[in-house]
Order: sequence, then C-alpha cells, then structure tokens
Amino acid sequence: MKKRWCTLCKTVLIICFLTACGDEAETEQTIDKGQQRVEKESEQRPDITDLNGDEVLVAYFTRLPNTESGDNLDAVVQGGGPYGAIGESFESADMDAISSASITVTDEGVKGNVETVAGWIAEYTGGELFSIETLEKYPLDYDTLINQGGEEQQNNVRPQLVTHVENIENYNVIYLGYPNWYHDMPMALYSFLEEYDLSGKTIIPFVTSASSGLANTVSTIAEMQPEADVIEDGLELVMGDVKNSKEEVTNWVDSLGIQ
Ligand SMILES: Cc1cc2nc3c(=O)[nH]c(=O)nc-3n(C[C@H](O)[C@H](O)[C@H](O)COP(=O)(O)O)c2cc1C
Repeated sequence: MKKRWCTLCKTVLIICFLTACGDEAETEQTIDKGQQRVEKESEQRPDITDLNGDEVLVAYFTRLPNTESGDNLDAVVQGGGPYGAIGESFESADMDAISSASITVTDEGVKGNVETVAGWIAEYTGGELFSIETLEKYPLDYDTLINQGGEEQQNNVRPQLVTHVENIENYNVIYLGYPNWYHDMPMALYSFLEEYDLSGKTIIPFVTSASSGLANTVSTIAEMQPEADVIEDGLELVMGDVKNSKEEVTNWVDSLGIQ
C-alpha cells in the first residue's frame, strides 16, 4: 500500500514537473512566436523612408534661381537675348516666347523648365526636391550668359555651390535634372557630382534643351560616379514642350520601374 502510495506520489510529481516544463516550453514558444512576429512585422513594415519618400532625391539645376534678378520676372522678360523681345512686363509678354526660354508657365505657377519637370517627378515619386544653386549668380542678359556659360566650360570651371544635400546617405535614388548647356551639363553639375560619393545609388538623368537633349551627359555622369548605377534611359524634353509634358514625365517614371 505504502509502495503504491509512493508510486502515485512520484507519478503526480512527474506530471507536475512535465506540466511545469510544458508551461515553460509554451511560454518560451510564445516568446519565440512573439519575437518572430515582431521580426516579421518589421520585415513587412515598409521602411519609414518609403512612406515619406525621403529615399528619393530630385536634384536639379535651373537657370532662374541662379540668375541675378531671376526672381523678378519683369526684369527677366526685359533681359537681353530672347528675353529682350518678349515685352516690358511679365504680364504683357508672349507666353509662347516665355516657354521657349527658361520659364515654364503652368497652372502650378511660374518655374524654370527643369524645375517644372523636377516638381512633377517629386510629386509623383514622393521624393524630395533639391535646387542646385551657385554662389555667383549668372547674368540676366541672355547673350552675356551664353558667353559666360561657354567660357566656364572651356576653362573647366567648378562654380562654388551654396546649397548642399544634408544626409546624402538617406537617398538611394537620385533623379538629376539640368538644362543642356553647350551640348553638356552646366558646370555647376560638375561641382555637384564632385561633392558627393554616390556609390551604390541609382542616378536618373533628365534634361531640357532647345534640341541637344542628353548628348553625352549620361556617360559623363557615369565616369564621374563610377560606382553608381546611372540609368541610360534618361528623359529628354524640348524646352517649348515642357509645359504640356506632365503625362510624359510620369509615364517615363513608371517605365523605369524604380519608384
Ligand atoms: C548657356 C546656355 C547654353 C545652352 N546651350 C544649349 C545647347 O547647346 N543645346 C541646346 O539644345 N540648348 C541649349 N541651351 C538652351 C537650354 O538648354 C534650354 O533653354 C533649357 O530648357 C533651359 O532650362 P532651364 O530653364 O531649366 O534653365 C542653352 C542655354 C544656355 C543658357
């Protein structure tokens, strides 16, 4: 009887022990599951940068903010070269003539040609806009500007920049926009490309011009940033067509399948 009682006690103890172990195992499993869930959730949760678009940068150079009196549109239309023929004031100016120069007028306001395209890309991708701006402003007079732009290129000048990208490491995709100046990029783009190490990032060029398009600029960018992935299928827009090109711009972004 005593022996049977002992055996019963042992059995109860073993069951209790096993139950306790079972509980412990279950708790561990719950913790495991919990950790797995947390890991899975963080895996599935889109990176916060995907949500606010911080990882896309839309950097561009456009003439107006880099021009003396570029914010005074009356002064701009009274400037030399093509602007001289436009009118006394911005209001009275011929809009087609303006669109052919460095201003695009849309429902969204008055912007530079490249700036207009950059704005649409940023809006569509949720990217962040960045205007590349030089310390020395370019002359308002178009003929003088044309001469100066040519001289800068011949002398391989690097204009000093006053705008700088903070935390370039946050951006994986960089749309890079510029006007064609003398079948090339404005020299400010060389300053920009030499300022940052864009290794491992995707650079997507876009350009506005009278007719020259991207010319050799894509290969130049690739040479300057050899460790970046420079997309060859950049966007080329003729300056007078910019104002009606919003759909073309968003279709092009879609076609890249990047963002
Ligand atoms: C200094 C300078 C040089 C230019 N050189 C060319 C050129 O070689 N080929 C061309 O098609 N357009 C040329 N253009 C025209 C610009 O590419 C065009 O007006 C562009 O849309 C301007 O863009 P933005 O308004 O954003 O600055 C030149 C313009 C300037 C001011």
